[in-house]
Amino acid sequence: SRQWRGIIEEYRDRLFVKPDIEVVSLREGGTPLVPARVLSERTGCDVHLKVEGANPTGSFKDRGMTMAITEAKAAGAQAVICASTGNTSASAAAYAVRAGMVCAVLVPQGKIALGKMGQALVHGAKILQVEGNFDDCLTLARGLSEKYPVALVNSVNPARIEGQKTAAFEIVDMLGDAPDIHVLPVGNAGNITAYWKGYGEYADGASARATRTPRMWGFQASGAAPLVHGAPVRDPSTIATAIRIGNPASWSLAEQARDESEGFIDSVTDRQILRAYRLLAAEEGVFAEPASAASVAGLLQAVEQGKVDPGQRIVCTVTGNGLKDPDWAVAGAPQPVTVPVDADAAAERLGLA
Ligand code: F0G
Repeated sequence: SRQWRGIIEEYRDRLFVKPDIEVVSLREGGTPLVPARVLSERTGCDVHLKVEGANPTGSFKDRGMTMAITEAKAAGAQAVICASTGNTSASAAAYAVRAGMVCAVLVPQGKIALGKMGQALVHGAKILQVEGNFDDCLTLARGLSEKYPVALVNSVNPARIEGQKTAAFEIVDMLGDAPDIHVLPVGNAGNITAYWKGYGEYADGASARATRTPRMWGFQASGAAPLVHGAPVRDPSTIATAIRIGNPASWSLAEQARDESEGFIDSVTDRQILRAYRLLAAEEGVFAEPASAASVAGLLQAVEQGKVDPGQRIVCTVTGNGLKDPDWAVAGAPQPVTVPVDADAAAERLGLA
């Protein structure tokens, strides 16, 4: 028996990596594809969850980061930089440690979840809290990477998309073909771009492993939905801080994925996101962060709108681990009751007596 080797070693024949370079990996990928019993019942479909919170730093970013940091290291870079709503910075910080590189991160002040900040800190990243939003951070990071010797590892770096496309490969490898519909949250729009690339490559050529590609359904938060409005949002707002983005870098590539797949990009409210967040945890046993629940919220909305024919196979990506942002799990939940060290009292409180 052997353990999963990480996406570069597992999919080397389908990635552009030079044969003799040192791979920087935390054995990312190989994440669970979990059948969603309650969501399947509610939709009349065969729904699966791609649980990306099971990656080494707790989000899908690790798939792209192993590629980006491996390439940066091979190119002789000594430092990397990224803008982030939290997950990219956590991932970059961890992979930079593996590579022996310095990691600088730019985050919007006060708008990243505590767990993500803790990750960047404990991995020793140099953190700047910027007085602006994610879009401002990305502008700054791009500028710094052009002027100074520091490699940009945001998803505008093609290596990131290259690595993230492997999630589509895994889904096809597990299901035996592509699903009918793939649903995911959209922020900076790198991931929808990556999935579409992955599905396309797996359905193409003599060694094709899929007979078709899915329709891509992307969901933004309603207060941060530039792709839905067709114009940048100057002051994006949502409780799902991971996707609080007003001017996605991969804008036109996301539109291409949407149009070529005959899919759509729509929005869901914070209330819908929180409802889906609780459903995922309380009824499917999957603890994802709020932004991740936008995919499930979107699927449920599409069902209500009559857009989902029963009997289809649907995969929802849940992009990040719920532990990153536990405030939302605690908020609004009943306080645990306190009992003495006494079996009768405990039994009574548990309703067993
Ligand atoms: N879900 C989570 C948990 C994310 O962290 C992100 C993006 C997305 C969804 C959206 O993916 O940007 O490829 O459309 N997080 C980035 C970050 C922006 O900095 O961690 P996308």
